[in-house]
Amino acid sequence: AATSCSALLLFGATGDLARRMLLPSLYALHEDGLIDPTLRIVGTARSVHDDAEFREMARAALEEFLPADRRDDSKLASFLERLEYQTLDASKPEGFAGLAEKLGDTSCGLSIFLSTAPALFEPTIEGLRLAGLAHEGVRIGLEKPLGNDLASSRRINEAVAAGFSERQIFRIDHYLGKETVQNLLALRFANMMFEPLWNSAGIDHVQITVSETVGLEGRKGFYDDTGALRDMVQNHMLQLVALTAMEPPLDFDATSIRDEKVKVLRALRPVRAEEMVRGQYRTGAVGGSAVAGYLDDLGEASDTETYVAIKAHVDNWRWQGVPFYLRHGKRLAERRSEIVVQFKGVPHNIFGARGGKLAANRLVIRLQPEEYVRLQVMAKEPGLDRGGVVLREVNLDLSLTTAFAKARRRIAYERLLLDLIEGEQTLFVRRDEVEAQWTWVDAIRRVWAETAMEVKPYAAGSWGPNAGIALTERDGRSWHD
Ligand code: BG6
Repeated sequence: AATSCSALLLFGATGDLARRMLLPSLYALHEDGLIDPTLRIVGTARSVHDDAEFREMARAALEEFLPADRRDDSKLASFLERLEYQTLDASKPEGFAGLAEKLGDTSCGLSIFLSTAPALFEPTIEGLRLAGLAHEGVRIGLEKPLGNDLASSRRINEAVAAGFSERQIFRIDHYLGKETVQNLLALRFANMMFEPLWNSAGIDHVQITVSETVGLEGRKGFYDDTGALRDMVQNHMLQLVALTAMEPPLDFDATSIRDEKVKVLRALRPVRAEEMVRGQYRTGAVGGSAVAGYLDDLGEASDTETYVAIKAHVDNWRWQGVPFYLRHGKRLAERRSEIVVQFKGVPHNIFGARGGKLAANRLVIRLQPEEYVRLQVMAKEPGLDRGGVVLREVNLDLSLTTAFAKARRRIAYERLLLDLIEGEQTLFVRRDEVEAQWTWVDAIRRVWAETAMEVKPYAAGSWGPNAGIALTERDGRSWHD
């Protein structure tokens, strides 16, 4: 348990992530009494502020980003009192002495969260070391992007490893903090009925969709250098693949779970050119309003993809012959993240033609915007039909929002910040996972370069380029829309 000398140190404390996610999450943990009342929260950034100004900034951020039903004036006041601020240029390692002085005794625990440009990771670690803030009792959380290819991610990992051992390092993938992602593990490993079918004998294919309606969101430079593959597939979507495909772990321990995930990531087969589609949005309409195309948003020519679809394969015993279709894009028809497990059909239809076509079972795990698990099954239509039964596909619904109506919906960073403070690593990405992810992604980007693969245009507000739709259609399958 934390005592009065424990602290959380937030680098990038005046940034967008801090305002939108981190401060609201910390407030929620505070309001629910989940963090020790004496834990200090110290923000740092380059801009010059004192504690009072930082508290004002935090208050404004909470007013903007906290849901109205989550604001309790007295708790807000006690939360703001926890906050302190230290101006710091993280690019100058020799300047960290003032920070160490502000923190004082950190012997009973210091959690650090780096939400800065990755170029600052190296000098920050060096600064922490010089100032005596990289001791055994320190944990460090790293926000993405962790590099933009294998080589640069290794450099970051090396730099961090120079100050901290792997058990002190918490690499964030905020998808792992989402309730329904953790629910996937509960579904698979706390129930008997799925796992015996969870393999190439029972499953035809898996689809993972992360579609967004937003476009560039003021991140022009970053996004154009990054693209859809590296922004979303390399991290979030591969984590979803790993959790869907992994073998049953021994227990819920961080090592057991991550050992199984990394095996999946290492089993990913290099993707061939004909199994991939790159796209870029053009002018169109999203939610009834006209929106500009990517190049207009960007203001220059670019062949960065804002959409990617991939037919992936996990080359191991369990998944041989079961494709994992992945698609992600900006400015698509709706905001939706989901995993769809398409089972095989029954071996023989006893109902004959009159029953109608038998649809194979489908398990839909919806992460957002709604959270539910839905199993599509065939059922008899009510009625007194003569000469046989008429069948129809119906949903067995487990709406998590309804089933757990009293539970507060939490954002991913609440879970992750709490785990960082408590030193629980299960939902953080281990170094070998990140490196396996990059290895696969780098190979894809080499194929793109070698084949000069162009981006296919798609209208904003559509489901992406036709070629992306054809990726499943030509296998006789279709995207779950
Ligand atoms: C981030 C990406 O990691 O995830 C963004 O950089 C993306 O481009 C975001 O919009 C999506 O997160 P969520 O939780 O809204 O699905």
